[in-house]
Amino acid sequence: MAMASPQTPVTRPATVIILDFGAQYSQLIARRTREASVYSEILPHDTPWTAIAEREPAAIILTGGPESTLAPNAPGVDPEVWRSGIPILGICYGIQLIARDLGGELVRSTHSEYGPAHLERLGDSPLFAGIAQHTRVWMSHGDTVLAPPPGFTVYGRTAQCAVAAFGDPVRRLYGVQFHPEVVQTEAGTTVISNFLHGIAGIAPEWKMASFVESTVGQIREQVGNGHVICALSGGVDSAVAATLVSRAIGKQLTCVFVDTGLLRANEGQNVVAAFRDVLHLNVVKVDARERFLAALAGVIDPEQKRVRIGHEFIAVFEEEAAKLSDVEWLVQGTLYPDVIESKTPSSKAGHKIKSHHNVGGLPDVMALKLIEPLRLLFKDEVREVGRVLGLPDAIVERQPFPGPGLAVRVLGEVTAQRLDTLRAADLIVTSEIERAALETHPWQYFAVLTPLQSVGVMGDGRTYADLVAVRAITSEDGMTADWARLPYDLLARISTRIVNEVAGVNRVAYDVTTKPPATVEWE
Ligand code: XMP
Repeated sequence: MAMASPQTPVTRPATVIILDFGAQYSQLIARRTREASVYSEILPHDTPWTAIAEREPAAIILTGGPESTLAPNAPGVDPEVWRSGIPILGICYGIQLIARDLGGELVRSTHSEYGPAHLERLGDSPLFAGIAQHTRVWMSHGDTVLAPPPGFTVYGRTAQCAVAAFGDPVRRLYGVQFHPEVVQTEAGTTVISNFLHGIAGIAPEWKMASFVESTVGQIREQVGNGHVICALSGGVDSAVAATLVSRAIGKQLTCVFVDTGLLRANEGQNVVAAFRDVLHLNVVKVDARERFLAALAGVIDPEQKRVRIGHEFIAVFEEEAAKLSDVEWLVQGTLYPDVIESKTPSSKAGHKIKSHHNVGGLPDVMALKLIEPLRLLFKDEVREVGRVLGLPDAIVERQPFPGPGLAVRVLGEVTAQRLDTLRAADLIVTSEIERAALETHPWQYFAVLTPLQSVGVMGDGRTYADLVAVRAITSEDGMTADWARLPYDLLARISTRIVNEVAGVNRVAYDVTTKPPATVEWE
């Protein structure tokens, strides 16, 4: 096995560079540009000009950020950015930076403006083409621009902010104090596409079909006659990554599917059937159920569970890889949000809430070269690639599922029997919710087996049995969530079926907690 892990080189379509000042919304800006069929990448704000220029950006967007441009050592950009002649859109902190660096005037506000505001357009700007004279925008800032730099014209104001938008059409430099990337800004999408298409003149050409085509070509070239291995989890990311690679190199790819025994009802058979029989991939199924149960025996602490499962997974995977000859490459379903390196003065290492386990730990141990065909994509884009590749809906629309599987949702000790109990309850929850065909389908829904027992009565007898919790949430991305307002009748059916059909359960609770402060999983 070779050392080092270079990543898949990627041919770049016309690219927008988003310089990140640590805004909550940086990823949203990238999504909006891609929705406008323009490819974008996020880089730290202080990326040296040479690294930016390498990507030959067709436009640059400066994000918002938590700092004040007036503070000493406030974050900025390489001055070459201003001299590059590339069209720039500054958003929030971005407009303030343009004002500060190019000779405008700023004032530090005594109070912040946060929330909806009414923008009144001033003058005539291509940035606001097709937008009403008065429109609702979303504000979230402390400092404000008092006067634009020389050469700039003010294009909009709100009650609190006299310079809410400005621009220099000659140099194609624009700024908005509001956030066009959030849905609360009525005409936000139009502002972004006006900038990209109208001002920067970028053709809307970023399409998934062309992404698939070019990626397949690159993988073929990169891998040559080499052998590639991929851990299939059943999740959408590894499924799409594997299918993409197999489209490129066919049987040179071997997928390993590890049955950990921590999967949901019928999941193992379904994954193997879909990939082996329908998509004709080389799939090796490893039955490692006993091993995982042994590794988890007596373990109650959720972090310990995750660690042990991660180690066991790597051990099983390595054994399988060793059985194949000449494996050089490993496919990983890494996504763009995992790749972005955000560098802001205020950025602190995030608190470790839980150690996520996918198959992310593999390359360190195995020293294979990496193929990460999805590393420039967001989750919904991965689903789109899956559709372009003809993957079945059951895989493409799959709910997120923790890497360590049901071990996360069996609170307390994980045993074969408790896993069976949870699987039976979970099947009732998922099938009833899916059968109900709700107008608003929850984003994620599942059962949790708690470590609690309580007294109940069944027939004439007293029971002392398990409590199952039901969790159903609405969410955009799993980062924040609300509990789903499931109809009472549906909850009643779920509850009745669980207590009647699942041995050892005499009580069902519904989780009505948002995230934050709770998490989605119980763990
Ligand atoms: P939490 O519980 O952190 O979950 O609010 C947020 C989302 O992440 C999923 N989740 C995981 N996904 N590996 C994953 O790929 C993991 O280890 C993992 N743990 C939680 C969870 O189901 C929810 O959608």
